[in-house]
Amino acid sequence: MTAFDPRALRDAFGAFATGVTVVTSRTAEGAPIGFTANSFASVSLDPPLLLICLAKTSRNYANMTGAPAFAVNILAEDQKDVSNTFAKPVEDRFAAVEWRDGPAGSPVFPGAAAWFDCTAERIVDAGDHAILIGRVAGFENSGRNGLGYVRGGYFTPSLETKAQRAAADGETRVSAVVERDGEILLVPAGDGRFALPGAVLGNRDGLDALKADVRARTGIAMTGGYLFSVFEDRSGGFQTIVYRAGADEGAPRDGRFFPLDALPLDRLASPQTADILRRFVSERALGNFGVYFGNETAGRVHALAGKA
Ligand SMILES: Cc1cc2nc3c(=O)[nH]c(=O)nc-3n(C[C@H](O)[C@H](O)[C@H](O)COP(=O)(O)O)c2cc1C
Repeated sequence: MTAFDPRALRDAFGAFATGVTVVTSRTAEGAPIGFTANSFASVSLDPPLLLICLAKTSRNYANMTGAPAFAVNILAEDQKDVSNTFAKPVEDRFAAVEWRDGPAGSPVFPGAAAWFDCTAERIVDAGDHAILIGRVAGFENSGRNGLGYVRGGYFTPSLETKAQRAAADGETRVSAVVERDGEILLVPAGDGRFALPGAVLGNRDGLDALKADVRARTGIAMTGGYLFSVFEDRSGGFQTIVYRAGADEGAPRDGRFFPLDALPLDRLASPQTADILRRFVSERALGNFGVYFGNETAGRVHALAGKA
């Protein structure tokens, strides 16, 4: 038998982009239980079957595999928090979400992109997981866009399209949280303050413009690049798009790398930058990066959706 490095295998499996679901059921005593799963697959239309894979290490393993029914809730783009709650050892996971009983008795989330309430059809033993096959007893499809997950981070396809459209509408500033070996690149912003390296977009593509301007200013070549935050600065009347990226070797010509635990949070050009860096540090610790949409002080998706 070939023994692979489990971490490397998991990372390679993670190249497959999926949605995110919360699988729910009830204990024999009737208490609601649930956990986050991206191992969902639709299986058959006739009869209507689906599957999810459950780790044998789950605290819910006995309850889930012993239950006569379970439901699969496909999370919507604005339900990243729900995904995180159902993946962490939270006392009452169900306090984080609006839910009700589905037709077969398991908790379903009206705010989800879709849900399927199932009776347990079959359990297949599969290594360190069990495959739970469910027969759909009822479902609802809200038409909301689903939250995405790839390589350990969430993505929000339709919100990202909206951000690009909003960017085309007005002045857009792009900047990046550039991380290399646990340190973040910041550039001087006057008065002893620091800012994220950035660019004014003009008619250029966000990430290309950013990479060109960061390289011109600091000599540092950014690598990769994922959307991290999009917000509208209502005081200044512009959109800000923040990416997260890596960096090649070399010392910056302008600016410097600060360790994650020694960021100059009290010497930044704007309070939003401090918020962005705090969020980066905490999401990096969790290994789960999300995308924030809103205005500079509050909100999530709606400020931007309203504008686009
Ligand atoms: C995006 C994402 C997808 C996950 N997919 C699965 C999965 O398919 N199967 C699984 O058993 N655990 C999966 N997990 C991990 C469980 O959600 C996590 O281990 C949870 O804490 C289990 O809780 P429990 O022990 O209370 O059941 C996933 C976690 C995340 C964040």
